[in-house]
Amino acid sequence: MNTNPTQSSEIMIEMIKASKVYSKDVKALNDISISIANGEMFFIIGMSGAGKTTLLKLISSMEQPTTGLIEIGGAPIHQLKGYKLARLRQKIGVAYQDFKLLTDRTAAENVAISMEVSYKKPQMIRKRVKDLLAQLDLTDKHNKITGDLSRGEQQRVTLARAIANSPTMILVDEPTGNLDAATTEKVMKLLMKCNKAGATVVIATHDDTIFRHTSHRIMELQKGSILSVSRGNGT
Ligand SMILES: Nc1ncnc2c1ncn2[C@@H]1O[C@H](COP(=O)(O)OP(=O)(O)OP(=O)(O)O)[C@@H](O)[C@H]1O
Ligand SMILES: [Mg+2]
Repeated sequence: MNTNPTQSSEIMIEMIKASKVYSKDVKALNDISISIANGEMFFIIGMSGAGKTTLLKLISSMEQPTTGLIEIGGAPIHQLKGYKLARLRQKIGVAYQDFKLLTDRTAAENVAISMEVSYKKPQMIRKRVKDLLAQLDLTDKHNKITGDLSRGEQQRVTLARAIANSPTMILVDEPTGNLDAATTEKVMKLLMKCNKAGATVVIATHDDTIFRHTSHRIMELQKGSILSVSRGNGT
Protein backbone atom coordinates (compact mmCIF):
# COMPACT_ATOMS: atom_id res chain seq x y z
CA MET A 1 0.00 0.00 0.00
CA ASN A 2 1.25 3.47 -0.83
CA THR A 3 1.70 5.26 2.47
CA ASN A 4 2.96 8.53 1.04
CA PRO A 5 0.72 11.48 0.35
CA THR A 6 -0.40 11.44 -3.28
CA GLN A 7 2.12 12.86 -5.70
CA SER A 8 -0.22 15.57 -6.89
CA SER A 9 -1.11 16.80 -3.40
CA GLU A 10 0.67 19.87 -2.21
CA ILE A 11 3.06 19.22 0.68
CA MET A 12 2.30 21.22 3.82
CA ILE A 13 5.02 19.90 6.15
CA GLU A 14 8.33 18.54 4.93
CA MET A 15 10.95 17.32 7.38
CA ILE A 16 14.27 16.33 5.90
CA LYS A 17 16.65 14.42 8.17
CA ALA A 18 15.59 16.49 11.17
CA SER A 19 17.28 15.71 14.49
CA LYS A 20 16.95 17.31 17.90
CA VAL A 21 19.61 16.93 20.55
CA TYR A 22 18.67 18.61 23.83
CA SER A 23 21.95 17.65 25.48
CA LYS A 24 24.78 15.16 25.01
CA ASP A 25 22.75 12.30 26.46
CA VAL A 26 19.27 13.41 25.29
CA LYS A 27 18.81 12.80 21.58
CA ALA A 28 15.07 13.40 21.31
CA LEU A 29 14.77 12.98 17.52
CA ASN A 30 17.04 11.26 15.09
CA ASP A 31 17.01 11.77 11.30
CA ILE A 32 13.28 12.24 10.80
CA SER A 33 12.19 12.56 7.17
CA ILE A 34 8.47 12.79 6.51
CA SER A 35 6.12 14.68 4.18
CA ILE A 36 2.62 15.59 5.30
CA ALA A 37 0.21 16.78 2.63
CA ASN A 38 -1.89 19.90 2.71
CA GLY A 39 -5.28 18.88 4.14
CA GLU A 40 -4.04 15.59 5.58
CA MET A 41 -4.92 14.25 9.02
CA PHE A 42 -1.83 12.57 10.44
CA PHE A 43 -1.22 10.71 13.70
CA ILE A 44 2.07 10.55 15.61
CA ILE A 45 2.18 7.75 18.14
CA GLY A 46 4.83 6.16 20.35
CA MET A 47 5.68 5.55 23.96
CA SER A 48 6.31 8.26 26.50
CA GLY A 49 9.62 9.96 25.67
CA ALA A 50 9.58 8.77 22.03
CA GLY A 51 9.77 12.36 20.74
CA LYS A 52 6.18 13.20 19.79
CA THR A 53 6.02 16.58 21.52
CA THR A 54 9.49 17.51 20.28
CA LEU A 55 8.41 16.76 16.73
CA LEU A 56 5.36 19.04 17.06
CA LYS A 57 7.60 21.75 18.54
CA LEU A 58 9.88 21.56 15.51
CA ILE A 59 6.92 21.89 13.14
CA SER A 60 5.54 24.90 15.03
CA SER A 61 9.06 26.40 15.17
CA MET A 62 8.90 26.54 18.96
CA GLU A 63 12.16 24.58 18.90
CA GLN A 64 14.83 24.57 16.20
CA PRO A 65 16.20 21.28 14.82
CA THR A 66 19.83 20.59 15.75
CA THR A 67 20.39 19.34 12.21
CA GLY A 68 18.15 18.90 9.19
CA LEU A 69 15.52 21.00 7.50
CA ILE A 70 11.84 21.74 8.03
CA GLU A 71 9.70 23.35 5.36
CA ILE A 72 6.16 24.58 5.82
CA GLY A 73 4.23 25.22 2.62
CA GLY A 74 7.50 25.06 0.68
CA ALA A 75 9.39 27.61 2.81
CA PRO A 76 12.25 26.54 5.10
CA ILE A 77 11.15 27.81 8.52
CA HIS A 78 14.63 28.64 9.76
CA GLN A 79 14.88 31.24 6.98
CA LEU A 80 11.70 33.00 8.08
CA LYS A 81 12.15 35.94 10.37
CA GLY A 82 10.14 38.81 11.85
CA TYR A 83 6.92 39.52 10.00
CA LYS A 84 7.05 36.38 7.83
CA LEU A 85 7.55 34.09 10.82
CA ALA A 86 4.77 35.86 12.72
CA ARG A 87 2.45 35.43 9.73
CA LEU A 88 3.26 31.72 9.51
CA ARG A 89 2.61 31.28 13.24
CA GLN A 90 -0.81 32.90 12.85
CA LYS A 91 -1.71 30.12 10.44
CA ILE A 92 -0.74 27.40 12.91
CA GLY A 93 -3.00 26.51 15.82
CA VAL A 94 -1.29 24.54 18.57
CA ALA A 95 -2.93 22.73 21.48
CA TYR A 96 -0.03 22.11 23.86
CA GLN A 97 0.27 19.01 26.01
CA ASP A 98 0.76 21.29 29.04
CA PHE A 99 -2.06 23.63 27.86
CA LYS A 100 -0.30 27.01 28.39
CA LEU A 101 -3.61 28.66 29.23
CA LEU A 102 -3.91 32.04 30.88
CA THR A 103 -5.20 30.53 34.10
CA ASP A 104 -6.41 33.83 35.57
CA ARG A 105 -8.68 34.48 32.58
CA THR A 106 -12.01 32.91 31.65
CA ALA A 107 -12.45 30.07 29.19
CA ALA A 108 -14.03 32.49 26.70
CA GLU A 109 -11.14 34.97 27.01
CA ASN A 110 -8.60 32.22 26.36
CA VAL A 111 -10.43 30.97 23.28
CA ALA A 112 -10.85 34.51 21.91
CA ILE A 113 -7.13 35.39 22.04
CA SER A 114 -5.99 34.19 18.62
CA MET A 115 -8.95 35.91 16.97
CA GLU A 116 -8.33 39.16 18.83
CA VAL A 117 -4.68 39.32 17.80
CA SER A 118 -5.75 39.00 14.18
CA TYR A 119 -8.32 41.78 14.61
CA LYS A 120 -11.52 39.80 14.02
CA LYS A 121 -14.75 41.67 14.72
CA PRO A 122 -15.94 41.39 18.37
CA GLN A 123 -19.34 40.08 17.31
CA MET A 124 -17.73 37.37 15.18
CA ILE A 125 -15.39 36.43 18.04
CA ARG A 126 -18.27 36.14 20.51
CA LYS A 127 -20.20 33.84 18.17
CA ARG A 128 -17.21 31.62 17.36
CA VAL A 129 -16.24 31.28 21.04
CA LYS A 130 -19.78 30.35 22.01
CA ASP A 131 -20.08 27.80 19.19
CA LEU A 132 -16.76 26.14 19.96
CA LEU A 133 -17.40 25.92 23.69
CA ALA A 134 -20.82 24.38 22.95
CA GLN A 135 -19.30 21.78 20.61
CA LEU A 136 -16.90 20.78 23.38
CA ASP A 137 -19.59 20.61 26.06
CA LEU A 138 -18.23 23.67 27.85
CA THR A 139 -21.12 26.11 27.55
CA ASP A 140 -21.45 26.38 31.34
CA LYS A 141 -17.70 27.17 31.64
CA HIS A 142 -17.81 30.20 29.32
CA ASN A 143 -17.27 32.72 32.14
CA LYS A 144 -15.31 30.49 34.51
CA ILE A 145 -11.65 31.17 35.32
CA THR A 146 -9.66 28.43 33.56
CA GLY A 147 -7.41 27.88 36.59
CA ASP A 148 -10.49 26.57 38.42
CA LEU A 149 -11.46 24.08 35.70
CA SER A 150 -10.70 20.35 35.74
CA ARG A 151 -7.80 19.09 33.61
CA GLY A 152 -10.19 17.60 31.07
CA GLU A 153 -12.01 20.94 30.80
CA GLN A 154 -8.74 22.87 30.48
CA GLN A 155 -7.66 20.44 27.77
CA ARG A 156 -10.78 21.24 25.75
CA VAL A 157 -10.37 25.00 26.25
CA THR A 158 -6.82 24.54 24.89
CA LEU A 159 -8.21 22.82 21.81
CA ALA A 160 -10.89 25.47 21.27
CA ARG A 161 -8.22 28.18 21.50
CA ALA A 162 -6.02 26.36 18.95
CA ILE A 163 -8.73 26.15 16.32
CA ALA A 164 -10.70 29.36 16.99
CA ASN A 165 -9.02 31.41 14.29
CA SER A 166 -9.49 28.64 11.67
CA PRO A 167 -5.76 27.99 11.16
CA THR A 168 -4.60 26.14 8.06
CA MET A 169 -2.51 23.82 10.23
CA ILE A 170 -3.58 22.39 13.59
CA LEU A 171 -1.07 20.64 15.85
CA VAL A 172 -2.58 18.87 18.85
CA ASP A 173 -0.60 17.15 21.57
CA GLU A 174 -2.46 14.46 23.53
CA PRO A 175 -5.88 16.05 22.98
CA THR A 176 -7.81 13.31 24.79
CA GLY A 177 -5.45 12.31 27.62
CA ASN A 178 -7.83 13.38 30.40
CA LEU A 179 -11.17 12.67 28.76
CA ASP A 180 -13.89 10.01 28.99
CA ALA A 181 -15.06 8.15 25.89
CA ALA A 182 -18.02 10.43 25.08
CA THR A 183 -15.96 13.62 25.39
CA THR A 184 -13.11 12.06 23.40
CA GLU A 185 -15.59 11.48 20.60
CA LYS A 186 -16.65 15.15 20.65
CA VAL A 187 -13.02 16.27 20.44
CA MET A 188 -12.32 13.97 17.51
CA LYS A 189 -15.52 15.03 15.75
CA LEU A 190 -14.42 18.66 15.96
CA LEU A 191 -10.90 17.89 14.70
CA MET A 192 -12.36 15.89 11.81
CA LYS A 193 -14.64 18.80 10.99
CA CYS A 194 -11.62 21.15 10.83
CA ASN A 195 -9.84 18.62 8.62
CA LYS A 196 -12.84 18.30 6.29
CA ALA A 197 -12.89 22.10 6.02
CA GLY A 198 -9.32 21.88 4.68
CA ALA A 199 -6.99 22.16 7.68
CA THR A 200 -3.93 19.95 7.96
CA VAL A 201 -4.28 18.24 11.34
CA VAL A 202 -1.37 16.55 13.14
CA ILE A 203 -2.23 14.68 16.34
CA ALA A 204 0.32 13.29 18.79
CA THR A 205 -1.26 10.69 21.03
CA HIS A 206 -1.01 7.63 23.26
CA ASP A 207 -4.73 7.05 23.03
CA ASP A 208 -5.28 4.16 20.64
CA THR A 209 -9.05 4.65 20.71
CA ILE A 210 -8.63 7.73 18.50
CA PHE A 211 -6.50 6.10 15.77
CA ARG A 212 -7.55 2.44 16.00
CA HIS A 213 -10.21 2.84 13.33
CA THR A 214 -8.71 5.62 11.27
CA SER A 215 -8.01 5.50 7.56
CA HIS A 216 -5.40 8.26 7.93
CA ARG A 217 -1.64 7.76 8.15
CA ILE A 218 -0.02 6.88 11.45
CA MET A 219 3.68 7.39 12.19
CA GLU A 220 5.13 5.50 15.12
CA LEU A 221 8.19 6.92 16.84
CA GLN A 222 10.51 4.84 18.97
CA LYS A 223 13.30 6.50 20.92
CA GLY A 224 13.38 9.42 18.52
CA SER A 225 13.39 7.41 15.29
CA ILE A 226 10.61 6.47 12.89
CA LEU A 227 9.60 2.88 13.57
CA SER A 228 6.87 2.80 10.92
CA VAL A 229 4.52 4.89 8.80
CA SER A 230 1.36 3.09 7.84
CA ARG A 231 -2.14 3.88 6.76
CA GLY A 232 -4.94 2.87 9.14
CA ASN A 233 -7.33 0.41 7.53
CA GLY A 234 -10.40 2.43 8.50
CA THR A 235 -12.37 -0.46 10.02
N1 LIG B 1 13.28 20.88 26.92
C1 LIG B 1 13.87 19.69 27.07
N2 LIG B 1 15.13 19.61 27.57
C2 LIG B 1 15.77 18.43 27.71
N3 LIG B 1 15.21 17.24 27.36
C3 LIG B 1 13.97 17.25 26.86
C4 LIG B 1 13.24 18.47 26.68
N4 LIG B 1 12.03 18.18 26.16
C5 LIG B 1 12.01 16.85 26.01
N5 LIG B 1 13.15 16.28 26.43
C6 LIG B 1 13.49 14.85 26.36
O1 LIG B 1 13.38 14.45 25.00
C7 LIG B 1 12.80 13.17 24.88
C8 LIG B 1 11.53 13.26 24.04
O2 LIG B 1 10.57 14.00 24.78
P1 LIG B 1 9.13 14.36 24.21
O3 LIG B 1 8.48 15.26 25.19
O4 LIG B 1 9.25 14.81 22.82
O5 LIG B 1 8.43 12.91 24.22
P2 LIG B 1 6.91 12.48 24.02
O6 LIG B 1 6.89 11.35 23.03
O7 LIG B 1 6.09 13.67 23.72
O8 LIG B 1 6.54 11.90 25.47
P3 LIG B 1 5.13 11.89 26.25
O9 LIG B 1 4.31 10.80 25.60
O10 LIG B 1 5.50 11.55 27.65
O11 LIG B 1 4.50 13.23 26.11
C9 LIG B 1 12.57 12.67 26.30
O12 LIG B 1 13.68 11.87 26.65
C10 LIG B 1 12.53 13.94 27.11
O13 LIG B 1 12.95 13.70 28.43
MG1 LIG C 1 4.54 14.58 24.68
